[in-house]
Amino acid sequence: MIRARITGTGSYVPQKILTNFDLEKTLDTNDEWIKARTGISERHIAADDENTSDLATRAAERALEMAGVKAEDLDLIVVGTITGDYPWPATACIVQSNLGAVNAGAFDVSAACSGFLYALSTAVDRIEAGRSKKVLVIGAEILSRVVDWEDRNTCILFGDAAGAVVVEAQESEHGILSTHLHADGTHLKLLYQPGFGTKLVPNEESLKNKEYTLKMEGNEVFKVAVRSMADVAEIALKANDMSVEDVDLFIPHQANIRILKATAKRIGFKEDQVYVNVDRFGNTSGATIPLAMDEANRAGKLKEGDIVLLDAFGGGFTWASVLMRW
Ligand code: ACO
Repeated sequence: MIRARITGTGSYVPQKILTNFDLEKTLDTNDEWIKARTGISERHIAADDENTSDLATRAAERALEMAGVKAEDLDLIVVGTITGDYPWPATACIVQSNLGAVNAGAFDVSAACSGFLYALSTAVDRIEAGRSKKVLVIGAEILSRVVDWEDRNTCILFGDAAGAVVVEAQESEHGILSTHLHADGTHLKLLYQPGFGTKLVPNEESLKNKEYTLKMEGNEVFKVAVRSMADVAEIALKANDMSVEDVDLFIPHQANIRILKATAKRIGFKEDQVYVNVDRFGNTSGATIPLAMDEANRAGKLKEGDIVLLDAFGGGFTWASVLMRW
């Protein structure tokens, strides 16, 4: 059977680190509150001359190098992002040009924090259908440009990063075993960016009201996120006739430590099965899962044959899981 298998991972975070102590200087907040409520100590922030496509390209180069795949051998590039360089064209097209991936189609997927898993699932479908052989899948975000740095309820949570994987068609027992995607658009205003699409255009009032920044009802998001991530993880296990004991590593979207712990507990995972790096990077939306995968992979925590479960929840709402044999 032809399976989609991850053969390389890569990631990139901007150099600048913004700690909770740095935030104390400009906001009515403190390190203790942020750590206790979110588990976050610091996050990386893109330089003024860095764009989302730059972060994505760097992560991609590292993934291609690990996979031993040349850019011109790629047939598809899919980028999960909600903070692309432009409303259009797709950031994936800029990455395609940066890499010289002259034989690849390229497009973006907009599914907020679930964007990478939605993008990965698209790659899996193309590969299993025999239509693609080598696909580059990226999650990349510069959230620091769309948060309101005067709103302590939201700005403390987010950071900038990119992660990438090379997915190849292989006749193998290893690879991606299932993907599950879900959405519910009825509560979109609990987590969204009101401007500037076609519904709300830039004008004096919308600019004054900072409508271009992220808005969130944190408490409500928290509850739905935990429930949905637990549900979609259980759906993945059931579809593969597996139980929590079969999973070697659970890599959830790194929103904040309380969501991670509550989700893992609800599913029944032990602490040592769960990958956590939110303390060092904050919530980097579509980038959290590929960033965590790359870290785990390079640290030797992903061994051949391991069962790995990825799980995400984000604006939309969207949520998704991907289960694989490494
Ligand atoms: N520093 C100090 N105090 C703060 C801060 C801050 N940065 N932010 C809020 N507070 C205050 C509030 O004003 C409030 O004060 P009050 O009681 O005087 O009104 C108090 O702290 C408690 O506020 P709550 O919002 O109830 O705090 P809560 O414990 O819910 O934590 C948080 C807020 C961390 C946002 C939480 O709701 C959460 O984790 N939500 C999930 C949202 C999330 O992670 N979204 C990411 C995007 S979605 C995703 O990726 C899945």
